Amino acid sequence: MKGNLHIAIDGPAASGKTDTGKLLAEELGILFLDTGLMYRAMTYYFLNSKLDENNFDLINKDIFDDINIEIFNNQNVILNNIDISKVIFSDDVNNKVSIYAGIKSIRESLVKKQQLIAQDNDIVMVGRDIGTVVLPDAKFKFFLDCSLNTRAMRRMHQDDKKKFTNEKDKLNNRDLLDKNREISPLLPSEDAVIVFNDYVNLNETVKLIKNIVLN
Ligand code: DC
Repeated sequence: MKGNLHIAIDGPAASGKTDTGKLLAEELGILFLDTGLMYRAMTYYFLNSKLDENNFDLINKDIFDDINIEIFNNQNVILNNIDISKVIFSDDVNNKVSIYAGIKSIRESLVKKQQLIAQDNDIVMVGRDIGTVVLPDAKFKFFLDCSLNTRAMRRMHQDDKKKFTNEKDKLNNRDLLDKNREISPLLPSEDAVIVFNDYVNLNETVKLIKNIVLN
């Protein structure tokens, strides 16, 4: 992995990681991977299997060899040849993804895939544990953060049917699960640059990060 340009971006839901990472990767001309899509695809797979999250200790780890997740154009997610790009953002997946993301065998399997992708590539990778676990040697690490109010407002702007207090509660619940889980909890790596972007827009955030990377 040494020698490649690895940029890790972590942060809570709706902190702007994906938009920032995508634009940054585009401007630098390198790969982009949103690892949240992989956790969503796994959650969708297991929600449709007979296993529930309480039975996980009993599963044979070989099952992960049969789960093939591919991501094209940073948004088309294909699970075992089926396009699941839309359903991974359904309420069913939204409500369960933090729980499945806390399961050790799922994390181990996905971290391995993510490390393999980074092995031969310059890449911007976004998630919750990229700087701490997936790419601990990444040359650049950023942690994007902003207030719960701003994040709930952003969610509402993406979909005007959404209600502010509802979105705030949902984000807060996901934060609690992501931050307090036993394995790879959401937290900034000690050597990450923390970027609060309540009052900084997307282009300014990308510019700020790009300045650090290129100087
Ligand atoms: O970024 P997102 O909202 O699409 O992520 C979905 C869930 O996956 C979120 O609850 C946290 C989890 N996740 C994780 O635990 N580790 C990652 N590297 C990426 C996402």
